Amino acid sequence: MRIASERKALITGGGSGFGRLIAHRLHDSGARVAVADIDAGSARATAAELGDGALGLAADVRSASDMARVVHEAQTAFGGLDTLVVSAGVFHIGTLEETSEADWDRTVDVNLKGAFITIRAAAAPLRASGRGRIVTIGSDCGRRGFPGQVPYTASKFGLIGVTESVAAELAPDGVTANCVCPVGCPTTGMGREVLDWKVSHAGKSPDEIVRAAARTNPLGRNATEDDVADAVLFFLSDQAGFLTGVTLDVDGGARLGTVPGVR
Ligand SMILES: NC(=O)c1ccc[n+]([C@@H]2O[C@H](COP(=O)([O-])OP(=O)(O)OC[C@H]3O[C@@H](n4cnc5c(N)ncnc54)[C@H](O)[C@@H]3O)[C@@H](O)[C@H]2O)c1
Repeated sequence: MRIASERKALITGGGSGFGRLIAHRLHDSGARVAVADIDAGSARATAAELGDGALGLAADVRSASDMARVVHEAQTAFGGLDTLVVSAGVFHIGTLEETSEADWDRTVDVNLKGAFITIRAAAAPLRASGRGRIVTIGSDCGRRGFPGQVPYTASKFGLIGVTESVAAELAPDGVTANCVCPVGCPTTGMGREVLDWKVSHAGKSPDEIVRAAARTNPLGRNATEDDVADAVLFFLSDQAGFLTGVTLDVDGGARLGTVPGVR
């Protein structure tokens, strides 16, 4: 898989989890990388790991002025911007009755409105680059409903709509936009948060939960951070230049059915 040389990339949520690994993988491919995260310390830590002029920027994806600032900083430092990975996200779990309007607002504001604000801020330089690439990180929760996850699924279903509409709107300027939808990956910050919730609700050990989750997957394991980074890097590669508006499930076949009544 070949990544066009000297990509100029901005990664939201790059201080942790998938975003951090994607920052490393892009940097290894020769890209200039700016990491934006609401957690300033983790953004700076990722940039310091990369070295080589990488930027670590504090920014809240819900803030149009923050996102305008980080896009400007990346553009100025790199002489343009042609790659955007939208990985910033928050999780919420709770029954309908337990879910407050504040829970809804926070989840949808970060995961959905934040993606809109981020992509809107980066659209002009992505168009101007003539080779713009956008990848959003969706979720299996953007593909089907789950109990206790009304705001999160709403935000991730919506993100696919945003990605498809952006793909349609920016295609005339050669910008592609695609969405990668992972199943649960227990090693990221969010993955650990979900695991903690499961432990507290199921009364099982973390190991038991992780093994039980793997058994429910057709391929018999959980997603890894590398599975997700591989899919993102594919969309950023030269080989994916004719793919846009695509949603790619990185789920080990979790969406596949079984024969009712048999298994
Ligand atoms: N881990 C999983 O099981 C899983 C599964 C499917 C989808 N996802 C998605 O993957 C993406 C990355 O999550 P992760 O699993 O790497 O978790 P993570 O918690 O390790 O990373 C998320 C990052 O987003 C940052 N962030 C949160 N709110 C922000 C805001 N308002 N502005 C800027 N940054 C903000 C956090 O500080 C954190 O660094 C998320 O969009 C998540 O919904 C995760």
